[in-house]
Amino acid sequence: MRIWFLLALLLAFLPLSASEKPPSAAIASAHPLATQAGFDVLEAGGNAFDAAVAVTAALAVVEPYGSGLGGGGFWLLHRASDGFETMLDGRERAPLAADRNMYLDEKGQIIKNLSLNGPLAAGIPGVPAAMAHLADHYGKLPLKQSLSSAIRYADQGVAVGDSYRRMAAFRLNALRDSTDASAIFLQRGAVPDENFVLKQPELAKTLKVIADQGEKGFYQGIVGKKLVEGVRQAGGIWTLDDLQKYQVIERKPVYGYYKGTKIVSAAPPSSGGVALVTMLNILSGYDLDALEAVQKKHFVIEAMRRAYRDRALYLGDSDFIDVPLEQLTSRLYAAGLRASIHPEKATPSSMLSGNVYENPGFHTTHFSVLDKDGNRVSATLSINYPFGAAFVVPGTGVLLNDEMDDFSAKPSEPNIYGLVGGEANAIAPGKRPLSSMTPTFLENDQGVAILGTPGGSRIITMVLLAALDFMEGNRPESWVELKRYHHQYLPDKVQHEVDAFNQSSLESLKLAGHSFKQLNRTYGNMQAILWDLKNNQVEAASDPRGEGLAEVR
Ligand code: GLY
Repeated sequence: MRIWFLLALLLAFLPLSASEKPPSAAIASAHPLATQAGFDVLEAGGNAFDAAVAVTAALAVVEPYGSGLGGGGFWLLHRASDGFETMLDGRERAPLAADRNMYLDEKGQIIKNLSLNGPLAAGIPGVPAAMAHLADHYGKLPLKQSLSSAIRYADQGVAVGDSYRRMAAFRLNALRDSTDASAIFLQRGAVPDENFVLKQPELAKTLKVIADQGEKGFYQGIVGKKLVEGVRQAGGIWTLDDLQKYQVIERKPVYGYYKGTKIVSAAPPSSGGVALVTMLNILSGYDLDALEAVQKKHFVIEAMRRAYRDRALYLGDSDFIDVPLEQLTSRLYAAGLRASIHPEKATPSSMLSGNVYENPGFHTTHFSVLDKDGNRVSATLSINYPFGAAFVVPGTGVLLNDEMDDFSAKPSEPNIYGLVGGEANAIAPGKRPLSSMTPTFLENDQGVAILGTPGGSRIITMVLLAALDFMEGNRPESWVELKRYHHQYLPDKVQHEVDAFNQSSLESLKLAGHSFKQLNRTYGNMQAILWDLKNNQVEAASDPRGEGLAEVR
């Protein structure tokens, strides 16, 4: 009797394992209507993967400056029934007629804006194929049902918020250059006013064709034909062959372990998971909890510097180049990097061999989903720059990405964000450009975290700071609110939000040799979920910097 009592007591205090079911579902996304679209599907009997289709499609309609049918992304999946994990790589591919020098003039100089604006900047989109793949292989509901909210939003129209107007102002000139983009996203050629309702009937039609025919509805048939004709008439190089050959690839996620926490994150062609694991491996050699805040920040910055140096040197599409994945994510390798860190002095980036640039953007989008069976999705999607290439293909409503700018147009030349890329990320036909998107799961005996954020090259360091916060026992509200700082090897500066450092930390770190650049705006839009295994409760948070909605139901 006594034994049974003790056993019952012990069980009561043991944390649940992730094989148990969560008490509620949760969705966090960058737009309330996208979060609602996900719940509509869950409430209709769909699972987290169906909800991911619904949120992906809804974001394409209601947050067109961040992602869309004309873009790509990475969907990290965890299936509860058997613990299977995979990453859907729906990243854009370079067209088959692409050439490593396609953005250079006859003197070998980069032609400004050619990889940013207009259809020559666009890779072959992956979002429609990824939605169909999710529905066919992992979901329970037909695409028709999962896409219905997005179709309604596109048909009936949605009110736009301040972020939309800010992004439209930022991309005004480029949007004006595309007749269809201007007609859809602007109001009489200007930034829309507060009462503007964004209606996208042609996008609704394209979504309906995908709902009826699956991915063929986008990559073949009438829509495929219109896409190729529209792109080519405006100077692009897409062919029907490009569209027909596009394939989603399932890749093994990148795994790491940090003091009892399992990290599951994005594999190449994203640099996100590799750099995150490298940084955590470096930091695992320090007792960060016991250190003063300023000392801890010094080590974190030095870990960032080294991981971003490697990103630039070694990372690219692993179907085209050999990525030394095992080395970059090994503890032994990280120990070597750690040994090069002086505990009190910054290492000038010029003293680390390598030559690279990276770009901190403010585009892209992220969402996280947990369903009541414990299935999870962490997805980061992009069309690259705000409003992508600012080009809508006539008759389709599809806004194209400018993800070709994520390649190194000229190895060792910085792109629009000042990022330098290496040979590993040079343009080649059919290749996927290197990404920083870092959809991530973290798991320890306290809980399961599902998180990610937009933000160009700063994505990875935002996820790192949130991961460290999770491991300190803090909650999603704290992860998304953290004041952010970032080092990307080159330029050799710690970029940071206001108040990321107090005055005395700033002075100490400057004395240690760090240089700082305070940004004049905040960055990131993290969407996060915690399934607290100890108390079996679910929490979710949406970044206060954005207009998103996190809900637990
Ligand atoms: N276009 C942003 C990224 O993939 O990192």
